Amino acid sequence: MREIRFDRFGGPEVLTLHSDAPSPQPAPDEVLVRVAYVGLNPLDYKVRDGSSGMSKDLQLPAGTGREMAGTVISAGSGLDDAELGSRGLNPGTRVFGMRAPGDVRGMAAEVIAIGADELAPIPDEIQDEDLPRWAGLALVGLTAIATIEDTARIEPGQTVLVHGGSGGVGQLLIPMALEAGAAQVWATGRAANAERIRDLGAIPIAYDAEDWQAEIHRQTDGRGVDVVLDTHYHSTFLPSLDHVTEGGLLVTLPTLADLTPAHERGVDAKVPRIKPGRDRLDRLVQGIRAGRYPLEVSQVLPLAEIAQAHRLLEDGHTRGKLVLDARA
Ligand SMILES: NC(=O)c1ccc[n+]([C@@H]2O[C@H](COP(=O)([O-])OP(=O)(O)OC[C@H]3O[C@@H](n4cnc5c(N)ncnc54)[C@H](OP(=O)(O)O)[C@@H]3O)[C@@H](O)[C@H]2O)c1
Repeated sequence: MREIRFDRFGGPEVLTLHSDAPSPQPAPDEVLVRVAYVGLNPLDYKVRDGSSGMSKDLQLPAGTGREMAGTVISAGSGLDDAELGSRGLNPGTRVFGMRAPGDVRGMAAEVIAIGADELAPIPDEIQDEDLPRWAGLALVGLTAIATIEDTARIEPGQTVLVHGGSGGVGQLLIPMALEAGAAQVWATGRAANAERIRDLGAIPIAYDAEDWQAEIHRQTDGRGVDVVLDTHYHSTFLPSLDHVTEGGLLVTLPTLADLTPAHERGVDAKVPRIKPGRDRLDRLVQGIRAGRYPLEVSQVLPLAEIAQAHRLLEDGHTRGKLVLDARA
C-alpha cells in the first residue's frame, strides 16, 4: 500500500511517498481503516522538523498526519461483531477520528490501524463529496471543545477575542464560544478573511489593514476582553496581555508557548489539552449535522503532494482545513 514516511527530521522534502509499505495489523482493540482523506495540522510539520514535544518519542522512519476519514475494513481480535455493532463501527462504515495523543503513528497512508475508541461513525446522509471536511474535523474539533469548555470555561456574557479566526481551530472556536454564551466575539485575521469571520458570527479585525490593538481598545472602550483565545501566539501573545480585563484569561494554543511573561504580569494564561473520546466526537457529529460548525476545507491535495501541503501549512495562513486525498 502507499504511505508517506520520513526517515530524518527536516524540511518538507524529507517526506517520501512509498508504494510498497506493508499493511498494518490491528491490535486487539483496534480497527483497520481504508483511508479516504487525511486532515493536516500545524502539528504535522512540527513533528516532521523535530521541534514538537512529540518528536522525541518518535522512532524513525515514521509516518505523518493525525486525523482522517475512511471506511472500516476489519477489526482486531478483541472486537467481535457485537462489540463493533454496539459502537456503530461495522465493516463498511464510514468513520472519522484522530490518533490518541500518545500514539505517534501517522495517518497519511491507504490503510491504517487505529484504536476503536478514537473513531466515530459518519452519518449515512453525508455525501462522499463532503468527506474531506470530516477528515479535518476531529483534531480541531476536540481542540476547540477542550479550549472553550475545559480551559477557558467561557461563561454567558463574557467577551472574547480570537486570534486567527479563519484558521482550522479558529473556525470552530468562534461558533463554540457563541454557543457557550459569549456576549461578543472579535476575531483577527487578514482582510481577505474578514467576510468568513463575520459569517462565523464574530466581528472581524483585519490585522493587515488596521492596528488590531487600537481597534480592540476602541471597540471595548478600553476595557479589553474577558478571554483571549490565541491560535497564532508568535506576534499576538505579548500585545494581548494589554487587552485582557482584570481577572481575565489568555489561552494560547501552541503547546510549547512560553507563558512566563503573562504570569509575571499577573495575567492568567493557559494552554489547552485535547481530551480524546467518543462522546466528544459524537458531539462534533451533532454540531456538523445541525449546521452549527461550518468548518471549511480550503484545499484538497493528492497524497503525492504532501511536501507542498506542508509548505502551505508552514506559511501559517491556512483557511479552514488543508486535506490530502489518500486515493489520488
Ligand atoms: N494545544 C493543542 O492541543 C493544540 C491543538 C491544535 C492546534 N494547536 C496549535 O494551534 C495553532 C493553530 O492551529 P490551526 O490548526 O488553527 O492553524 P491554521 O489552520 O494554520 O491557522 C492559523 C491561523 O493563524 C492566522 N494568522 C496568521 N498570522 C496571524 C497574525 N499575525 N495574527 C492573527 N492571526 C494570524 C491565519 O489567518 P490569516 O491567514 O488570516 O492570517 C490562520 O487563520 C497551531 O500552532 C497548532 O499547532 C494546539
